[in-house]
Amino acid sequence: MESSTTRQQPSISTKWWSKDTVAIVTGANKGIGYALVKRFAKLGLTVVLTARDESKGLEAMESLKVLGLDHNVRFFQLDISDPISISSFVTWFRSGFDSFDILVNNAAISFNPMGENSMAYADTVIGTNYYGSKQFTDAMLPLFRRSASMSRILNISSRLGTLDKLKNTKMKAILGDIERLSEHQIETVVNAFLQDVAEQRWMTAGWPEIWTDYSVSKLALNAYSQVLARRYEGLVSVNCFCPGFTQTSMTDGKGNHSADDAATMAAAIALLPPRCLTTGKFYAASTTNGGMISKL
Ligand SMILES: NC(=O)c1ccc[n+]([C@@H]2O[C@H](COP(=O)([O-])OP(=O)(O)OC[C@H]3O[C@@H](n4cnc5c(N)ncnc54)[C@H](OP(=O)(O)O)[C@@H]3O)[C@@H](O)[C@H]2O)c1
Repeated sequence: MESSTTRQQPSISTKWWSKDTVAIVTGANKGIGYALVKRFAKLGLTVVLTARDESKGLEAMESLKVLGLDHNVRFFQLDISDPISISSFVTWFRSGFDSFDILVNNAAISFNPMGENSMAYADTVIGTNYYGSKQFTDAMLPLFRRSASMSRILNISSRLGTLDKLKNTKMKAILGDIERLSEHQIETVVNAFLQDVAEQRWMTAGWPEIWTDYSVSKLALNAYSQVLARRYEGLVSVNCFCPGFTQTSMTDGKGNHSADDAATMAAAIALLPPRCLTTGKFYAASTTNGGMISKL
């Protein structure tokens, strides 16, 4: 993602959206995804809440009903790591909607409790957080309304996956070569990581040190966001957002702020006024300036 040190608090005072603006959120039965659905619903958008487990998705819908926020929210099951589930989602979506405006790739997984770094599930982590989000995005791209001022992808990423965490010079050179970056290059890096895991040399190969499989999955997602941002410049805005250390099940409930706080920041980026719309940026929640968002 493009790098700069400017601090910016996106404003949602310019309301450009309506109930005809459609947002899709993955992994939205709990945590930041669920909080983001609530936020979008409160702001008056039409939202598609998705969850890999149908019963958890329906429970989330029930909670929204209790809050009086279910009116413009629809639910459909979606496991981003399952191509059949993606395909069923696309068929269902096409049957009820012509197009959509905002995709938030929020779903992700980490099998490591805080402080641990096992690579036992590295394939699943990469398969979900990178390939799952990529495959779902690829499937949905043709259904964007493709209005330069409205179409947005927000990838919920992590600072753990920024390029400075990668010490492997060969891999860093590949991901840092923005001009030549492609899905193929990203796959080369991801495959090299999985090979290092298979051959048990990942600890000394210069990969990120914390939650290594998760961090590599987010490195790949950030790189893919850059590829898309260039490819769809002027058609679809593509940005990343790191919510910071947030109290969700991924962090065993620990964190500096709530999922609702993180969702408020994510929504502010997803709903940037058209005249301020950016692409190819990495936004991160900051705990040092009262929740302001910095463009790293
Ligand atoms: N919390 C933090 O401190 C933090 C920091 C940086 C970045 N993030 C990012 O923020 C996003 C949201 O995480 P969170 O903290 O809200 O975690 P969370 O509470 O664990 O929520 C993750 C969501 O993703 C879903 N999910 C996992 N695998 C999926 C799949 N294959 N298909 C569809 N959905 C799937 C989970 O569903 P189930 O309930 O079925 O498991 C759950 O709904 C993630 O992208 C995460 O990497 C979080």
